[in-house]
Amino acid sequence: MRGPLLEIDALSRSYPLPRPRLFAPAPQFTAVANMSFAVAEGECLAIVGESGCGKSTLARVIAGLDRPSAGAIRWAALPEGCVPVQMVFQDPHRSLNPRRTIGWSLQEPLYRSALPRSQRISRMRDMLEEVGLSPEVATRYPHEFSGGQRQRIALARALMPNPRLLIADEPTSALDLSVQAQILALLGELRTRHRLAILFISHNLLAVRAVADRVLVMAEGRRVELGPTAEIFARPTHPVTQNLLDAELILPNFTQFSSNVFTVR
Ligand SMILES: Nc1ncnc2c1ncn2[C@@H]1O[C@H](COP(=O)(O)OP(=O)(O)OP(=O)(O)O)[C@@H](O)[C@H]1O
Ligand SMILES: [Mg+2]
Repeated sequence: MRGPLLEIDALSRSYPLPRPRLFAPAPQFTAVANMSFAVAEGECLAIVGESGCGKSTLARVIAGLDRPSAGAIRWAALPEGCVPVQMVFQDPHRSLNPRRTIGWSLQEPLYRSALPRSQRISRMRDMLEEVGLSPEVATRYPHEFSGGQRQRIALARALMPNPRLLIADEPTSALDLSVQAQILALLGELRTRHRLAILFISHNLLAVRAVADRVLVMAEGRRVELGPTAEIFARPTHPVTQNLLDAELILPNFTQFSSNVFTVR
């Protein structure tokens, strides 16, 4: 069954701008405007759009890191032992405390849960193995790892409390191409194994084609297109989508995609 995991209903987020004069009302800048869509259980929905169109703002509001100015976010009833959402960022330093061991950072999302310590530790070891790392890395510190390894650790941490939705905000943008492919493949594996829905924010349309079931295109805070990935890219109806596709042509060429792995020419 693939019911909606999440429904976003007329969501907006505005920020006050500086007042033009002392007693003038503060003008508002609307980063996300009247956004509505749903995410099915286990679905990978990509969010694309030009820089500054509001993707990260939308992600932060859904993740509960920022509050909406208007509208609603509705979650399906969660199975026991799950949380609705976790997030990974372009820079894994945002999820990993540089002064704490990997083991501490992984267990931190569960410190306040009822899970006994022994189970927390065995879950941590399992998660590290799932992302392709040895459980022994738990005693080491973030600076001892490469960017790709840190992103694996950030993914393991995000999955520790068993989220139903993972929001990945440009998770591979800071990595070199071969490592990007590995992290995308890993995301695909984790998604299948955990029946995880993913909100995949990326400027890399090739990666989007490889991983996303549907694509939502944003422009100036609004949704301008939403549909199955192949349809959106074959028949873009909005100029912003066309611009994104045109820009892709001047980027390096990738040749081959499979469901999980892509290679670079
Ligand atoms: N806390 C804030 N206060 C004021 N304005 C903000 C705040 N957060 C975001 N904005 C503005 O909202 C707009 C959307 O920003 P956002 O980071 O969501 O864009 P984005 O689509 O993620 O861009 P990029 O692709 O470059 O990451 C930007 O103009 C930004 O300056
Ligand atoms: Mg962003």
